Amino acid sequence: MSTAQQTLLLIGATSDIGHATAQAFAGAGWNVLLTARNTETAQRNRDDIAARSGSEVSLLHLDILDTSGFATFLDGLPVLPDAVVCVVGELGDQQQAQGDIDHASKVIRTNFEGPALLLGMIAERFAQRGSGTIVGVSSVAGDRGRGSNYVYGAAKAGFSAFLSGLRNRLSPGGINVITVKPGFVRTRMTEGMKLPPLLTAEPGEVGAAILGAVQGRKRDVLYVRKLWRPVMMAVRAIPEPIFKKMRL
Ligand SMILES: NC(=O)c1ccc[n+]([C@@H]2O[C@H](COP(=O)([O-])OP(=O)(O)OC[C@H]3O[C@@H](n4cnc5c(N)ncnc54)[C@H](OP(=O)(O)O)[C@@H]3O)[C@@H](O)[C@H]2O)c1
Repeated sequence: MSTAQQTLLLIGATSDIGHATAQAFAGAGWNVLLTARNTETAQRNRDDIAARSGSEVSLLHLDILDTSGFATFLDGLPVLPDAVVCVVGELGDQQQAQGDIDHASKVIRTNFEGPALLLGMIAERFAQRGSGTIVGVSSVAGDRGRGSNYVYGAAKAGFSAFLSGLRNRLSPGGINVITVKPGFVRTRMTEGMKLPPLLTAEPGEVGAAILGAVQGRKRDVLYVRKLWRPVMMAVRAIPEPIFKKMRL
């Protein structure tokens, strides 16, 4: 089936994963609507994707914390997209979040409240039309709370649960909801971190996996590097009395 007429809405165009994902879709013939809070920075990515693909690529302003502006933003879209991918997130600083309620709130709102509310509103429009695919980029950090990043992890856990509920409710109506757990990815977010090569993906790998999941191999929960699935099963299976003694 040709995808020439299909449109992707990519929330988070300045993200390395977002850039690579938009590039993968545009390369496969999709038109792309990008959003960013900083459209000046995102313009470079827009131009790069448009030049390489020849697809129609537009750029719109959206701050994920501005939840009261979501309805106006969606009403102003030139077309209701066929698929939406939300990659917005903020790792934040766990230690700062422990003592700074504003920082903790920003991490929770950026990873959970904003993406969940926006995708929820888009889901209602997809449900009315009777088609659409929703992709939320969550994290394995949401699979179990760890002392070293539980504010971010809890926000991602909330986001994963929201996507799971949305899928549960809407899949009979033909709406696909895909939760992406990328594992480690070499991006601006993980710059300077020492990452295990087997468990670390490149942004392009994530983009290709998301495109594959949307176009054909429909998935509910996508671990980009397959090794992450058994790893997280094992992490979840550790009894709490033992887990609490582990310095993770
Ligand atoms: N890298 C990893 O190892 C990894 C692992 C698991 C999950 N993830 C998830 O993957 C997603 C993409 O991450 P990344 O690695 O590509 O990191 P990134 O480059 O830091 O991407 C984060 C994106 O979120 C955007 N953002 C933050 N606050 C925003 C706001 N208020 N309004 C609009 N946009 C906002 C950033 O925009 P600005 O450029 O304006 O800041 C940026 O585009 C995130 O959800 C992250 O949690 C990443």
